[in-house]
Amino acid sequence: MEDFKSLESVFSLSNGVKMPCLGFGTWQSSDGEEAYNAVLSALRLGYRHIDTAAAYGNEKSVGRAIADFLKESSVRRSDLFITTKLWNEDHGYENAKKAIEVSLEKLGLDYLDLYLIHWPNPLKFRSCWQKANAESWAAMEEAVDAGKIRAIGISNFCERHIDELLKTAKIKPMVNQIKVCPGQPQKQLADYSRSLGMVVEGYSPLGTGGIFKNAEIQQLAEKYGRTVAQVCIRWCLQQGVVPLPKSVNFARIKENSEIFDFMISEEDLEIIANLKNLEIRPVRNPDEADF
Ligand code: A2P
Repeated sequence: MEDFKSLESVFSLSNGVKMPCLGFGTWQSSDGEEAYNAVLSALRLGYRHIDTAAAYGNEKSVGRAIADFLKESSVRRSDLFITTKLWNEDHGYENAKKAIEVSLEKLGLDYLDLYLIHWPNPLKFRSCWQKANAESWAAMEEAVDAGKIRAIGISNFCERHIDELLKTAKIKPMVNQIKVCPGQPQKQLADYSRSLGMVVEGYSPLGTGGIFKNAEIQQLAEKYGRTVAQVCIRWCLQQGVVPLPKSVNFARIKENSEIFDFMISEEDLEIIANLKNLEIRPVRNPDEADF
């Protein structure tokens, strides 16, 4: 494993773009003061990598927090890594082109660091998802060439969706963002994505909050003298996956960033990967999602 020392440690994407190794998730952070305060707190605490999506409905508040932070600090835009995603309604060449502009506008940014296709098989395009992804991707490639996006990737793509996209992609996807949490490490898909040159990001590393009641993880947290959240986030990172924990609470945002001064043993990494009976929803099959 690479040695990640701080929030400024990075993963290198296949085109050389650097991605800070711990991201800040904003799924389920409400638009308005909640998302604004959460992102501003995260930036003030040293997070440099923010993950949002058109579907989260909070790009405006995220953008406002970024703008205010850049005004109040000496940090430059180029020190930040901002991701957003193409929503399911907006697949296809023309729609995706427009969606990129709308996200840039809402975020108040001149460029995105990373833009992802959020889901591979939206309900609206279920009979033609291969074509829809290929066309969306072409629009994303054009935006890369135009300097509007630094890196492009996918989210929730399984092997079959990746293989299909690679048939037409001129630029290979640089990232696959998938759910990675205790009991659901998705090792095979992560390995496959990496074998094709992608960096893997993990959303819901705390099982969307479902991990906290589990006695085994509580015992492990005690063993390491850390909190459950810190053990889960560290576990994710030690597998070479970029964790994207979400919180809207200042103390928890801080706690979730303090994961760089301990190591989980190989044996315990396996135990966490294989935890059973967790109150966490199983990984969704993208071909059966009802959206
Ligand atoms: P909150 O936003 O109120 O802090 P995930 O990152 O897997 O999606 O999990 C997010 C959920 O976990 C949210 O409900 C969030 O609540 C909660 N959470 C985030 N960090 C912590 C923490 N350090 N301790 C307890 N709960 C946390």
